[in-house]
Amino acid sequence: MATRPRPEPAGDLASRLFATRKLTLGLAAPLSDADATIQPFPDASPAKWHLAHTTWFFERFVLARQPGYRAVEPRWDALFNSYYQSVGPMHARPRRGLLSRPSLDEVRDYREAIDARIARRFEAGDLDEVSLQVLLLGTHHEQQHQELLLTDIKHALWCNPLAPAYRTDLACVPAAATPLRWTTHAEAIVEVGADAWPQARAFAYDNESPRHRVLVPAHALAQRPVSNVEFRAFIDDGGYRDAALWLSDGWDRVQMEGWSRPLYWDGDGEREFTLGGWRAIDPHAPVCHVGYYEADAFARWAGARLPTEFEWEQAAAGQRVDGNLLDAGVLHPRAPDGGGAQWFGDVWEWTASAYAAFPGFRPLPGSLGEYNGKFMCGSFVLRGGSCATPRDHLRASYRNFFAPSARWQFSGLRLARDAA
Ligand SMILES: [Fe+2]
Repeated sequence: MATRPRPEPAGDLASRLFATRKLTLGLAAPLSDADATIQPFPDASPAKWHLAHTTWFFERFVLARQPGYRAVEPRWDALFNSYYQSVGPMHARPRRGLLSRPSLDEVRDYREAIDARIARRFEAGDLDEVSLQVLLLGTHHEQQHQELLLTDIKHALWCNPLAPAYRTDLACVPAAATPLRWTTHAEAIVEVGADAWPQARAFAYDNESPRHRVLVPAHALAQRPVSNVEFRAFIDDGGYRDAALWLSDGWDRVQMEGWSRPLYWDGDGEREFTLGGWRAIDPHAPVCHVGYYEADAFARWAGARLPTEFEWEQAAAGQRVDGNLLDAGVLHPRAPDGGGAQWFGDVWEWTASAYAAFPGFRPLPGSLGEYNGKFMCGSFVLRGGSCATPRDHLRASYRNFFAPSARWQFSGLRLARDAA
């Protein structure tokens, strides 16, 4: 028998929602209108667009459900619709950086207006169960955009020859090397994924369900991600020049885009661009801003492979969600303090698993069914969150996904091996 949905208590939901909204504004606070308007490449959105789109999400999918609802500015509906074909027309993604209007102040006013309308609905107590569920989904959606805001502005600032720092007060904490240890895992049938929300009490995206059993072969897993100094050895050994290490599509990218190092490293491999500006590379911090192709090539060079998402989840499932996450305020991966396994935080870890539907996958009903399911083609799953992911956004079953060429996220890797 299906379990009846149990929405979060409205008070808890309102606290979560307004805290999330406030944090987003705080993340955008160091930016000028110009900083927040530019779009460095088609997959990265302007900070101003993130601020507006996350607001549009609440207006379109919660407030506009009320009969007779009048939009704050009907002409913005298409501007801030990201990809919801069932909602209506949308402004072309690669042209988001051309939206010099509305201004950043107008977008902030838009946020305030929508927050006030949501607050009034909470006060009136007239939000139905579906609205409450979408409000919760909207907070998780906004947290995804918080991370994107940071990774997108990092790229935009890196493109500027003046290399401005997003913030100049970020802590830089190098740490000692941690020897690479391996744990072995016997062949097992394991349960992975999450029970479908909102039927289940705990929030999870539709792409994490249904929870199901998989056969995980015997294998070994590294107990921390690959470090900068280890990746440097791959570069020094000619890793970017040896076609035999690369998938064919990856090798094409190496040639076409001239890859010879992680995205934000300088030519001599001594410094990297961070949200705090250019800094010396910490040799023992996890390597970051590598795509799937580079992760896969490194693993082959190292005589290993990438873990599957199920191997990763089996190992991380019992671990506390903690680590160098957005909440830590560091905004850059760092070496493990005291030798922790870093399942969560620092860098998203590329897995060998193509992003595809779990058996029995059902997208959310209605327009929100477009949230995840229609992207299940051509991407790989990343697990574990990064230094830009809010802690209460994560769980062991969380499936992030990006195209294998994507390098601008805080993405790194952990090694796996087949059992001997
Ligand atoms: Fe979105």
